[in-house]
Amino acid sequence: MDLIEVEEGTTKFFIPLQDDSSHFPPGSAPIFYNPRMEMNRDATVLFVAVVKPLEYLDAMGASGVRGLRVATECGVAVTINDRDHKAYELIQRNALDHCPPVTVTCRNVHSLLAERRYDSVDIDPFGSPAPFIDSAVRGCGRFLMVTATDTAPLCGAHLNAGIRRYGATPANNEYHSETGLRTLLAFIARETVKFDRGIEPLFCYAKEHYVRAHFRLLNSASAADKTVARIGYILQCTRCPGRIEQAGLIPKMVKCEECGAGMKPVGPLWLGEIQDRSVIFAMKNVLGSMKLNTVNRLSLLFDLISDELPTSSHYDYHALSKVARISPRPLSEVIAILRERGYHASRAHYSGTALKTDAAAEVIIRVLKEKTELCEGEVSTYQSNKEQEDRFS
Ligand SMILES: C[S@@+](CC[C@H](N)C(=O)[O-])C[C@H]1O[C@@H](n2cnc3c(N)ncnc32)[C@H](O)[C@@H]1O
Ligand SMILES: [Zn+2]
Repeated sequence: MDLIEVEEGTTKFFIPLQDDSSHFPPGSAPIFYNPRMEMNRDATVLFVAVVKPLEYLDAMGASGVRGLRVATECGVAVTINDRDHKAYELIQRNALDHCPPVTVTCRNVHSLLAERRYDSVDIDPFGSPAPFIDSAVRGCGRFLMVTATDTAPLCGAHLNAGIRRYGATPANNEYHSETGLRTLLAFIARETVKFDRGIEPLFCYAKEHYVRAHFRLLNSASAADKTVARIGYILQCTRCPGRIEQAGLIPKMVKCEECGAGMKPVGPLWLGEIQDRSVIFAMKNVLGSMKLNTVNRLSLLFDLISDELPTSSHYDYHALSKVARISPRPLSEVIAILRERGYHASRAHYSGTALKTDAAAEVIIRVLKEKTELCEGEVSTYQSNKEQEDRFS
C-alpha cells in the first residue's frame, strides 16, 4: 500500500494514497481518511481537552487519526480499534512512528464494548451510527461521542431508511437540519434509558453532510426518567408555517393555533437544550491556545451556538419573505427588532437563512413587511444578505 504523510493539529500520521480523480477520493483508498472531517476532529480534540476523560476509545479508527490526535494533543490515555486488519496495521505503524504510547486493537466494536467499559467512547462509522449505539452505551463510562453521516435518512429525504434506523418519522422540510440532529439525539436517548441511564447533551451540531453529538452519560433511573421527559414531537401545521413543540412519547393531536388546520407530528425528537453552555465556553477559551487548522470555522460555530435558542425548529426567513411576497431584509435586523419587541430570537448555526424565535410566523411576517417599508436600496441589502449566508458555506 502506498502511503503519504499528512499533518492535522500537531499530529503527523500516514494515510493511503487516494485517487484524486475518483468522485469521492476517501472511498478510493483501502483505508478511510476524509480531510473534510478535520474540523470534526479538531472539535473532538477540543472537547476531550476540556472534559478530560480518564481514557478515550477511538472505536472505529481507520487510519487512527482521531485517537492519535487525542493522545498527542490532549495527553489522555487512548485505545484505537478497528476490525479491519489493514487498518489495524496502519494504526500500529502510525502509533509507533508518531505519538505517545497508545493501545491498538483489532476487534469488532460490539464484542470489545461488551467486555469492558472505557471512560469515553467515540463512534465514527460509515453512514449511520444506529447499529452501534446499544454497544456504545454498554461500553461507555462518562462521555459518548457520535458522528452520523446518513443525513438523507435523518432529514427525511430517504424516509423509509430514517424510519427503519431511528424509529422516527423525520420530515423533509425547511428545518430538517435541526430535526435530523434531534432525531439522532432522541434515538440515542431511547437506546440509553433502557439501561437505567440518562444522557446530557454537551455539544451537538449539524454541518454540511454530517451531524455530531457529544454527551455525558448519567447512571440512575431518575436520570433516565429526566431523559425520557426530554423526548417529544414538533407538530407542524399542514397549511401554514405554524408549529408547536410537545413533550411525550405519543403525540396528542391538536389544531394549529394560527390557522385552525390539522397538524402533522415530526419525531420523536430531543426537545430543548442541546448544548452545555459551560462546556462551549471552556472550548472557546482553549481554542486560541491549541494549534488547529480550522480555528476560524470553530470560532464562528462556537459564537453561533452560544447565542442560539434551544428551539427544535427554525423559520427560513427567505421562505417567509416569499410567502409575504417581499424581498428579504438582513436577518440581523429582523432579529434585533424581534428582540426589541420582547421576543427571543437568534440565528441557527447550520444555515445563514435560519431564524429561531418564539414569535409566531405572522409576527415575523409583520416585521419583514415593516422593514420593507423602512428600507431602501434592495441591491445593497441583497448583497449584505448574501455575505451573511456565505459565512456559513
Ligand atoms: C468512517 S471510518 C472511521 C474514520 C476515522 N474515525 C477518522 O476520523 O478518519 C469507519 C471505520 O470503522 C471500521 N468499522 C466498521 N464496522 C466496524 C465494527 N463492527 N467494529 C470495528 N470497526 C468497524 C471500518 O473498518 C472503518 O475503518
Ligand atoms: Zn396553520
